[in-house]
Amino acid sequence: MTSFESAIAEGARIEPRDAMPEDYRATLIRQIAQHAHSEIIGMQPEGAWITRAPSLRRKAILLAKVQDEAGHGLYLYAAAETLGVARSELYDALLTGRQKYSSIFNYPTLTWADVGTIGWLVDGAAIVNQVPLCRCSYGPYARGMVRICKEESFHQRQGFESLLALSNGTPGQHAMAQDAVNRWWWPSLMMFGPPDTDSPHSARSTAWGIKRFSNDTLRQRFVDMVVPQAEVLGLSLPDPDLRFDEGRGSWDFGPVDFTELREVVAGNGPCNAERLAHRRAAEDDGAWVREAARVHAAKQVRRGAA
Ligand SMILES: [Fe+2]
Ligand SMILES: [Fe+2]
Repeated sequence: MTSFESAIAEGARIEPRDAMPEDYRATLIRQIAQHAHSEIIGMQPEGAWITRAPSLRRKAILLAKVQDEAGHGLYLYAAAETLGVARSELYDALLTGRQKYSSIFNYPTLTWADVGTIGWLVDGAAIVNQVPLCRCSYGPYARGMVRICKEESFHQRQGFESLLALSNGTPGQHAMAQDAVNRWWWPSLMMFGPPDTDSPHSARSTAWGIKRFSNDTLRQRFVDMVVPQAEVLGLSLPDPDLRFDEGRGSWDFGPVDFTELREVVAGNGPCNAERLAHRRAAEDDGAWVREAARVHAAKQVRRGAA
């Protein structure tokens, strides 16, 4: 048994300088990069509402949340860099479509209620997905996730609180909240990925201690968490098959449309083109800053050498 295999078997952490199989390294780079891309692309749908938040308090909360997501992207790109890949390569892979980001951010935010709903459902699903990653076998990723998860739990609470205010507001506000939940519910369930029967890399990721629970297990956990929260909100979930199974102690739910998930992942969701175009424009607009920083750094080196 190699030192890598025995470390995994003992549940020890793998650190950047440790020997690791190339496939493990490549899998982590792909997963952490995809996660980092999701954090920064995820700033767009909510960022669109910063100027239109209904009060100064809501604006300050939303601004802080969107900034948090930028921070999450930063921790994760830094974690990926410990595996020997340059951040510029990862940006390039995002902008050219070679690497993906979470399908959920390809849906539009049509009303203010979408912001609360994203906090409640999307950040809620992110927490369920990400808490097990705090125990993932790769040290820098696991440590980054601890801080991210703490912030995600604030995100979920602010979303819930915002939605609760709307649900208990005027009939028009209540209807707006219900409409947002109706639109975001199924895409949120898709955030857990394809069903276990169609998840080819899962077994290996599980053996390597990167993945701790299957997609379907986490999806069920999410449903069980949010159904009682929807009751408190006074909002319904758009699934006629939702019912509590006494025997399993869990909520049964209807079939998820994985064809839609595949379509969105393939680039055919409602906002894929817009999200990438926005990101490319940001990259182009920032080119002069990176160039100035590079020239300044080179000058510092020259002065140091003189
Ligand atoms: Fe985040
Ligand atoms: Fe978040």
